[in-house]
Amino acid sequence: MTAQIIDGTAIGAKVQEEVRQAVAEMKEKYNYTPGLATVLVGEDPASATYVGMKQRTCEKLGIRSIGHKLEADATQEEVEGLVRKLNADPNVNGILVQLPLPKHLNEEAVLNAIDLEKDVDGFHPVNIGRLAMKGRNPLFVPCTPAGCMRLLEESGVDPNGKEAVIVGRSNIVGLPMAMLLQKANATVTICHSRTKDLAEHTRQADILVAAIGWAELIKGDMIKPGATVIDVGTNQKEDATKKRGYRLVGDVDFEAAKEVAGQITPVPGGVGPMTIAMLMHNTMRAAQIALSKK
Ligand code: GUN
Repeated sequence: MTAQIIDGTAIGAKVQEEVRQAVAEMKEKYNYTPGLATVLVGEDPASATYVGMKQRTCEKLGIRSIGHKLEADATQEEVEGLVRKLNADPNVNGILVQLPLPKHLNEEAVLNAIDLEKDVDGFHPVNIGRLAMKGRNPLFVPCTPAGCMRLLEESGVDPNGKEAVIVGRSNIVGLPMAMLLQKANATVTICHSRTKDLAEHTRQADILVAAIGWAELIKGDMIKPGATVIDVGTNQKEDATKKRGYRLVGDVDFEAAKEVAGQITPVPGGVGPMTIAMLMHNTMRAAQIALSKK
């Protein structure tokens, strides 16, 4: 039997519609418009594309988008100075510093400088710390893992008591995903590039999250029959039949996996649309927090 496909495009659109309605209501009731500031440092084309998509989605939903671009050789003081300026700007509810930053910059110090209540990426160490701790809750949850949790929820998958295996331990996805699944009462295993027998772990997973950035690493025989598979990977694979010379594939061998899994996210059209949708959701929440303090 082939797996049910989890439609991230449709679920992302549903989240966007919720945000659009909340923004409209906020404008009508309080004459208040949420604002998201994006900070792009340097010329990385993928980062520029992502930031552009985030800005366009803001505009579509009625959120003010304030774009800042710094040169690739911007100094630490310049980047932190901009963040502090945005912290102080009442028109800015959320601050998104696109990662990765150029190598000469201290990412930790930049993320530390973001006002906790404007940390719509959820990368501030206090928000991550609260996510990690029992009985505490962050103001904002990182967007991609939050999107994965929403995909599970919308697909009727309750992590409570389940075996969850995450492949990848990045600060942006793997680590916060593990903490979210643990908060949702799953038994969580984190695998990574040094894990000795990856398949032995992945075959135990009722919920398998692949977020290691390795094209089609997870084969069909590494998946427990009936498992829910969430594929966070976006990798370019050579494909001469495509005009651009490649196609996008996930960290999961989709064709093989869909014959084994119970539910699976495709690439593209799975997790991708959820990241932006959850950023919009977080920006809306940041605006609600700001309004409640007025
Ligand atoms: N780079 C890759 N994913 C993300 C993300 O979710 N937020 C930011 N700021 N940078 C990223």
